[in-house]
Amino acid sequence: MSVRRDTIPAVRHYEFGRNWQRFLATLNGARISAAERSLKQMLEVDNLADKTFLDVGSGSGLFSLAARRLGARHVHSFDYDPDSVGCTCELKRRYFPDDDQWTIEQGSVLDTGYLDRLGTFDIVYAWGVLHHTGAMWQALENVLIPLAEGGALFIAIYNDQGWISAYWRQIKRLYTTHPASRFLIVCTHAPVLLCSRALPRLMNGRLKSDRGMALWYDLKDWLGGYPFEVATRASIVGFYESRGCTLLKLRPCGDPSGNNEFVFRRAATSRPRQAGTGP
Ligand SMILES: C[S@@+](CC[C@H](N)C(=O)[O-])C[C@H]1O[C@@H](n2cnc3c(N)ncnc32)[C@H](O)[C@@H]1O
Repeated sequence: MSVRRDTIPAVRHYEFGRNWQRFLATLNGARISAAERSLKQMLEVDNLADKTFLDVGSGSGLFSLAARRLGARHVHSFDYDPDSVGCTCELKRRYFPDDDQWTIEQGSVLDTGYLDRLGTFDIVYAWGVLHHTGAMWQALENVLIPLAEGGALFIAIYNDQGWISAYWRQIKRLYTTHPASRFLIVCTHAPVLLCSRALPRLMNGRLKSDRGMALWYDLKDWLGGYPFEVATRASIVGFYESRGCTLLKLRPCGDPSGNNEFVFRRAATSRPRQAGTGP
């Protein structure tokens, strides 16, 4: 598969796909069910029958798999990281081999030409992706390109904590650009990470994530996840409301450094494109 780097900002990226490859070894029925539940709860549906689903930055591919299992009539997954694409292909091979209703490609959400060619989808899902592109506000704009009229946009964006977010950005930059510093960073930040990210889960009696992800890989993802940008809830809501979208659901982050989750509905008449065409 050819790798297009021209649409990716020239900063060193964390290699998410490698982390996903290791996560796949832990994947089981319980995690897949949790991923399905998370989609159903936020989208307030029992299934995705007759819906087209675009998974932007599919990562492991778990949520594409969940969408297909929930009956989406077409799922298209893309990620700019070839290893993430490989993980998504592996999940398709395991659970939906020979399925022509699930397509997977390498592509970037910053590539507007690519998004234009995809057609439109009833659901555009970009969970924990747009803040890792190096151009978050452009990416937030771009996900509207493949969103059908009346369609639902489901995104998750890191919460803005002011100077604390600025501090973590520097740590993540160091972790990603200087691999030799990783051991030191893990040792010095382990207590903070345990308190801020693992303890809230433990106290809720759910060490397992309610999205089916694994704590260890989530922590690595958190430490390495660079580029890293953040936004307040109000700025995200204002951004989409000024573009003809209505907030349907907001799930504030469980811990202050986590992701706020949003579901927006695009107005049915906001532009002259056909709904749900997809590829
Ligand atoms: C934290 S992971 C989230 C994966 C998945 N959406 C999930 O919910 O588990 C972020 C993903 O975004 C991908 N990504 C980063 N920049 C991207 C871009 N410009 N276009 C597409 N995917 C991108 C990364 O490769 C990575 O797989």
